[in-house]
Amino acid sequence: MELRIAPGDITTVRADALVNAANSGLLGGGGVDGAIHRVGGPGILAECRELRATTYPDGLPAGQAVATGAGELPARWVIHTVGPVWSATADRSEVLVSCYRESLRLARELGARSVAFPAISAGVYGWPIDDAARHAVTTCREVGGVEEIIFVPFGETAEAAYRAALRD
Ligand code: APR
Repeated sequence: MELRIAPGDITTVRADALVNAANSGLLGGGGVDGAIHRVGGPGILAECRELRATTYPDGLPAGQAVATGAGELPARWVIHTVGPVWSATADRSEVLVSCYRESLRLARELGARSVAFPAISAGVYGWPIDDAARHAVTTCREVGGVEEIIFVPFGETAEAAYRAALRD
């Protein structure tokens, strides 16, 4: 399995599956979520609405993952996963690890050969980027199951964090 870094905007990364840093509502937001819905187009939101009307009436719980099509994005699927909000008192690492584990399980079930991950929880949800990168790399190395995993850090600090995590 190959692990590599492609810094920048995840909506420009060509992969079978792009992972979205969603919220439980699944109906869009800012950051990665905003970019994926903006570039992917309304079809993705329509599928998310259908998921809310059927499988996830109360929303997608943190740590879980669900797939939709990718609309206009250069991918076959978008895997939506909900990261934990950072807490200085409670250790929510297992929920963050679960986002990577569940996204890879789903990617494998779909038959995706390559999966691109943003730095889940490291934006609006406030997770320190170094720790977020370490959990991402460690869990993806451990779980594997696809041919290629592409980490897509946004900005120099995030890129340095992923390069350090890959070196360790
Ligand atoms: N491509 C790649 N990475 C991006 C992009 C992009 N287009 N936009 C932002 N990022 C980076 C951020 O800099 C951060 O490092 O992705 C990481 C995750 O940030 P968020 O998108 O804010 O995701 P998260 O911290 O998991 O918070 C999720 O934010 O956008 C809302 O609807 C979303 O409520 C949800 C919450």
